[in-house]
Amino acid sequence: MIELPDFPWDRLTPYKERALAHPDGLVDLSVGTPVDPVPEVVRAALAGAADSPGYPLTHGTPRLREAAAGWLARRHGVTADPEAVLPAIGTKELVAWLPTLLGVRPGDRVVIPALAYPTYDVGARIAGATAYATDGLLGLGPERVPLVWVNSPSNPTGRVLPAEHLRKVVAWARERGAVVASDECYIELGFDERPVSILHPEVCGGSHEGLLAVHSLSKRSNLAGYRAGFVTGDPAIVRRLLEVRKHAGMMVPAPVQAAMAAALDDDEHARLQHARYAARRALLRPALEKAGWRVEHSTAGLYLWATDDRGCWDQVRALAQMGILVAPGDFYGHEGSRHVRVALTATDERVNAAVLRLQ
Ligand SMILES: Cc1ncc(COP(=O)(O)O)c(C=O)c1O
Repeated sequence: MIELPDFPWDRLTPYKERALAHPDGLVDLSVGTPVDPVPEVVRAALAGAADSPGYPLTHGTPRLREAAAGWLARRHGVTADPEAVLPAIGTKELVAWLPTLLGVRPGDRVVIPALAYPTYDVGARIAGATAYATDGLLGLGPERVPLVWVNSPSNPTGRVLPAEHLRKVVAWARERGAVVASDECYIELGFDERPVSILHPEVCGGSHEGLLAVHSLSKRSNLAGYRAGFVTGDPAIVRRLLEVRKHAGMMVPAPVQAAMAAALDDDEHARLQHARYAARRALLRPALEKAGWRVEHSTAGLYLWATDDRGCWDQVRALAQMGILVAPGDFYGHEGSRHVRVALTATDERVNAAVLRLQ
């Protein structure tokens, strides 16, 4: 049996009940699930591909792979070969299975960020390995590790890793033969800083050897309900992943592939979505600060990483009493025990309600 961690969200239930009792209802800023509409251009593409009786391609249609490569070139200065693009059934699936698909073995250690999206740890466990949570690779000494995860902009902190930092991670990993998987779920959501991809030539020196970038369409295009993402990078590694995924039936439904291609070809809806989050952030951040919280990092991504220096559960309780539900920082690692994560994923109406209550 795989030893999985407790599902932490269950611990939030009593606070949710408390917040639900607010006379003006709950403002749920705990999970980062999109609330705005699926763009029309994407819905039309999904509907247009509804008549898809045959099995979809595990590798994805050429149209989808070209759209992904086109988006990376246009928006992120990354040159990717469409052959080296591989769709995923949402990136959570890929994050959870990547160590296993790469052949990570029991006894191995997978490096994950000190404060991290919990699925990196789960993925290591599924492979029988253990996760080593650190932001400093030097602590590993000469140990060889098969896989290093980076996540910029970060969930939960909204921290952006500069190109210089990523270059050092790449050099360290290449010296030791480790794969670097860069989870770029929030790369389109830069506010005070512009995030850079691990595959940008300034970071990787123009070669994708040993590198993978993982991209989700959930946040950029409000497609969490469609399960839509992809991975690209080192062509040899992607080919290997494709082989295993073909055998295992890990394929994205054809209508979703068509929807993804339309989403990746269109920047206008992403610009609009970025503006929506920017507006919510511009309201929530000063409101939290006036109410006694300090916001750290949070220059990009979908979250405000905030603290009033008390334990995270005291802060969760204080906000729940105002009818506002947030996530305790310790869900993401020990270092988060004095922070809360405040998501920007609520409607304008709910964000305004939160701002009024914080006054
Ligand atoms: C850092 C990070 N990676 C990956 C995911 C998974 O996204 P999805 O499975 O919707 O593509 C999330 C979701 O919130 C996330 O925060």
